[in-house]
Amino acid sequence: MNAEEILAQVAKEVAVCERCALYHSRKKSVPGEGPANAEIMLIGEGPGFYENEQGRPFVGASGQFLTDLLAQAGLKRSDVWIGNVVKCRPPGNRDPLPEELATCDEYLERQIKAINPSIIITLGRYSMGKFMPGAKISSVHGQMRKVGDRYVIAMFHPAAALHQASLKPSILADFAKLPELLEQARKGLGRSAPDAAPKEKPKDDPKQLSLF
Ligand code: URA
Repeated sequence: MNAEEILAQVAKEVAVCERCALYHSRKKSVPGEGPANAEIMLIGEGPGFYENEQGRPFVGASGQFLTDLLAQAGLKRSDVWIGNVVKCRPPGNRDPLPEELATCDEYLERQIKAINPSIIITLGRYSMGKFMPGAKISSVHGQMRKVGDRYVIAMFHPAAALHQASLKPSILADFAKLPELLEQARKGLGRSAPDAAPKEKPKDDPKQLSLF
């Protein structure tokens, strides 16, 4: 199976998954979305109210904020793959339980293996904990570490920054540093940035032409 087929297979399985109790209150599972060959994978915590309704990641207020943070770093949502450590909404948006994280991890591992991103950006302490066990988000946010053969950047969760005004300047500063970190990671891996979409040929400006 190629990467796209593996991601589709995982999505099919999580849609009917009953491996943990979260399926009882699930409306739609949220497998994640984005290009199967994404250079960058963003991993959040778990679906919230709107994600559970729509089956798509980060579509509520924190999703809009995330889209803005990415834009600030010169990235479009469609450039990156976005998913979560748990694929079904914890009731009332409570934190995912250790057994839910452990059970759902097999899906995330298959997604990471299929996409094979150069860079993983963790959003919040649960996804950070997968790659930087024992680290504290208050100390490592905005930092990048080599984990195996890829780089992991830990960021605060956008929802945390929305709810705690004091975190907002930090998350803005961390995402502002992102282009620099991405360059560093690409250098470290000996890779270049993926090709940007071909630019439209600029049309002749009639005002300019009339000068000649
Ligand atoms: N918060 C998350 O961690 N993930 C989502 O998909 C939405 C909000």
